[in-house]
Amino acid sequence: MLEIKNLSMAFETDKGLVKAVNNISLSLSNSEILGIVGESGCGKSATLLNILRLVQYPGRIMSGEVMFQGEDLLKKSRKEMRDIRGKDIAMIFQDPMTTLNPVFKVGEQIREAMRIHGIFSNVKGGLLGRKKTLAEKDKAMDLMREVGIPSPERRYYNYAHEFSGGMQQRALIAIGLSCEPKLLLADEPTTALDVTIQAQILALMKKINEERGTGIILVTHDLGVAAEFCHRIAVMYAGKIVEIGKTERIMSSPSHPYTRGLLRSIPKISGRREKIRPIPGSVPDLLNIDDSCAFHSRCDQGSERCQQQDIPMIEVEEGHSARCLLYSGEEV
Ligand SMILES: Nc1ncnc2c1ncn2[C@@H]1O[C@H](COP(=O)(O)OP(=O)(O)OP(=O)(O)O)[C@@H](O)[C@H]1O
Ligand SMILES: [Mg+2]
Repeated sequence: MLEIKNLSMAFETDKGLVKAVNNISLSLSNSEILGIVGESGCGKSATLLNILRLVQYPGRIMSGEVMFQGEDLLKKSRKEMRDIRGKDIAMIFQDPMTTLNPVFKVGEQIREAMRIHGIFSNVKGGLLGRKKTLAEKDKAMDLMREVGIPSPERRYYNYAHEFSGGMQQRALIAIGLSCEPKLLLADEPTTALDVTIQAQILALMKKINEERGTGIILVTHDLGVAAEFCHRIAVMYAGKIVEIGKTERIMSSPSHPYTRGLLRSIPKISGRREKIRPIPGSVPDLLNIDDSCAFHSRCDQGSERCQQQDIPMIEVEEGHSARCLLYSGEEV
């Protein structure tokens, strides 16, 4: 359904180019859930925003393709992109309070999404006027019910501040689903919520994926969340994907030293007790970063060669690749 090919984007700053997304390729098949994980500032949000061409100045897409259902979104006109956003591809952001409009009723905001995309009027023999408004309103209330907002008949008329954080995020998911998108992009949708609500929202998204076949890309800094929720995981580091594969393989047999470090730095509840070991050092500055391995300075298995060359993605096993010379077949 979606294939990103060699996508690069950068922010043009006074000090130079900040390469937030550096030659990224990934794909998503129908009804698949892909997780993108990595530390703060590694380019996760920038990657998602690029898919919908929502990156603003001084950000600029430098090269690449974003193929969605066989067409390159980077070649679409602004008007075509406006039609695609919300209708074919919806996005849910981290902070629901700043995404919902404080001066409109929540239910009306869900209805508005359907009105803009002409869900009930753009079809043959579509509805007009009052009939259309009532159909949209009915569907908005159905959606509110579906995402677990109790008493939608009453809640429809509430403002965002009358909703709790979890309810606001449910309302945003309802807006996202209102036009029955094929792809849902979720940028840390549960980070602002407490763990029980987080589990409920993730369960809701999983239900939507299973029942409607909606493809989902979930961005999170929490590898545990990704492991539970996603079919496949892409690990990002300093603007690049360093490892991608099926969730259970990433978790049981992480290949890139960075992924291994990430796994060692999260606590385990069951199994053998191991000491939590944080990754030494810090994330490099993305300003004027080159194509060599950006993890090199923090890696305990690296060598001079990692610093000298552009390292490709190397297949470790079927459907599982890592950007690391350990798998190049040559001595590192
Ligand atoms: N307007 C901007 N100007 C310059 N650099 C920017 C701008 N916006 C983002 N960046 C840089 O781009 C890089 C990628 O940012 P991005 O928001 O995608 O990170 P992220 O992985 O989503 O992080 P987080 O987990 O904190 O949300 C960061 O290094 C950030 O500093
Ligand atoms: Mg982000």
